[in-house]
Amino acid sequence: RPGAVVLGIESSCDETGVGLVRMGERDPATGQPRLELLGHQLASSSDQHARYGGVVPEIASRAHLEAMQPTMAAAFAKAGIDRDQVDAVAVTCGPGLAGALLVGVAAAKAYAAGWDLPLYGVNHLAGHIAADTLEHGPLPANTLALLVSGGHTQLLRAGDLGTNLEQLGSTVDDAAGEAYDKVARLLGLGYPGGPVIDQQAAAGDPAAIAFPRGLTGPRDNPYDFSFSGLKTAVARYVEGKRRAGEPVPVADVCASFQEAVADVLTAKTVRAARDIGADTVVIAGGVAANGRLRELAEIRCGDAGITLRVPRPGLCTDNGAMIAAIGALAIAAGAQPADPALTGNPGLP
Ligand code: KG4
Ligand code: ZN
Repeated sequence: RPGAVVLGIESSCDETGVGLVRMGERDPATGQPRLELLGHQLASSSDQHARYGGVVPEIASRAHLEAMQPTMAAAFAKAGIDRDQVDAVAVTCGPGLAGALLVGVAAAKAYAAGWDLPLYGVNHLAGHIAADTLEHGPLPANTLALLVSGGHTQLLRAGDLGTNLEQLGSTVDDAAGEAYDKVARLLGLGYPGGPVIDQQAAAGDPAAIAFPRGLTGPRDNPYDFSFSGLKTAVARYVEGKRRAGEPVPVADVCASFQEAVADVLTAKTVRAARDIGADTVVIAGGVAANGRLRELAEIRCGDAGITLRVPRPGLCTDNGAMIAAIGALAIAAGAQPADPALTGNPGLP
């Protein structure tokens, strides 16, 4: 019902997120409720993983455990509401790290039981896409989503976000964010790699080095992606420079790598949108925060007459608001509360 408040809890990777979202009236065109973000809070353990070059599951789980209650309290303070104004709890139940998911699911069950509220288990990836509805309203039925995160890279039909996502293609090896993280690691730039490469690339020449565009041949699946060849090409280039005793032009490598990623992602997205007759494209997930991807997508969608929607960078990376949002959309679409035996499912499709 309009006015209902959904609490969202996220703990699938290294960010502990809590968000509070209020349902509004249903949009006549889509039948979906408009959503209002009341407030959200994040705690991150990324600093603790930096020296390992990637997320260490045990460290992430422990950090979630320590951060959960303070993050919850801070989210309520930001939203300016009390817990007796909440109507439902939504929690990420997958995909993600098993131990990390477990902390969020256990916390959500405890809050739901303690406050006598219905509990809903939701999909993290659908949550990424739902983040956009907090800013730009319900997604039209004819929407294509490009989901680009640390673990996934997929093209999806996203019109029935609250009930169903249909996959058109995905990466056959590394995810886009994973490629960013691996390239940052081999350049010695730390973890996570996306933000620092994004920053370094600003001072580089995107045409300096011709890196390969994976799966763009005439016989390749037009909706699938591959980033491991690109990562290897970057590694070979960097090793070659080091072996020759020449300095590695870090900014140029970052800019050229980033250009290759953004080029393939946007070209395939526009092609898929045209093929399925989608008039709206939404880009979601951590890599959607990338400056060049946003810029090139704007240009190419503009040329193709497609409306582009991308959440603000702070809502692209993992957060609790997106989980509250997908929870609200699922509830509005008739989802049933979770079984008390709800657990995390690391491999949730
Ligand atoms: O969606 P997300 O926060 O977590 C997952 O669900 O995986 O995505 C994290 C990924 C990381 O690989 C990170 O390097 C990448 O998103 N990322 C970026 C940027 N900010 C985060 N990649 C490129 N440019 C950015 N500005
Ligand atoms: Zn994510």
